[in-house]
Amino acid sequence: MTEIIAHRGYRIVAPENTLPAFEAALAYDIDMLETDVHRTKDGHLVVIHDETVDRTTNGTGLVKELTLAEIKMLDAGSYKQPVMNNVAIPTLEELLIFLKNEEFSKTLLLEIKTDHTEYPGIEQEVLNLVNQFDPTYGIIYQSFNLKSLKIIRKLQPNAKIAALVFWPSPKVWWLQIIGVFKFVHPDIRILKRKPKLFWRIGLPIRPWTVDKEEDMRAVFKAKLPGIITNQVALACRIRKEI
Ligand code: G3P
Ligand code: CA
Repeated sequence: MTEIIAHRGYRIVAPENTLPAFEAALAYDIDMLETDVHRTKDGHLVVIHDETVDRTTNGTGLVKELTLAEIKMLDAGSYKQPVMNNVAIPTLEELLIFLKNEEFSKTLLLEIKTDHTEYPGIEQEVLNLVNQFDPTYGIIYQSFNLKSLKIIRKLQPNAKIAALVFWPSPKVWWLQIIGVFKFVHPDIRILKRKPKLFWRIGLPIRPWTVDKEEDMRAVFKAKLPGIITNQVALACRIRKEI
């Protein structure tokens, strides 16, 4: 069965990567929650997609140049309509506490955002924090930065890892074959250019971000291992139908 992965929570109904968005996704028959991690100026791991707080809060600036106290003052619930009051950017620790309290039993797909910003040592910090919680649910680490994935593999040989790519190049497949990561997460828009190759032979790929009904149906029919989507309700409905 193709696993449904809620991209940044259920970001269509609640502000992305916030606790209400994760809570909203958990109301559906999803298999994974996807999220993104950056690091503040004072070394805290925070759950936010962009390098800056500009798009999703009432503040401005790079996450890496703001302290956690400054980030916690920001309103992360008003950029999206309808407005949600008292919504802040969560720390990764707060998300892990939330999942524990929810008795989460699926998988957290945790993206380390080292593709545009250098966060030296972040891989170890993320692993340390996650391991401290000793989660009973699944954890998969993913990144566009292959260097980060190699670091994670070295630090924790039994970690589940996936590579985020636009298009899986021969180098990506080589790293997959030698076991740096097990799954490859490609861009659906690029994948669609090679439908015969990818939708017939069951490769270990989970495309993102699959929001169109026709694409979802194709992915489900091809029995790909997973689908990363913003359209959580639609994906759950279509999977039931097929
Ligand atoms: O999980 C896939 C997807 O999250 C990768 O792109 O930019 O949304 O983090 P982005
Ligand atoms: Ca992501």
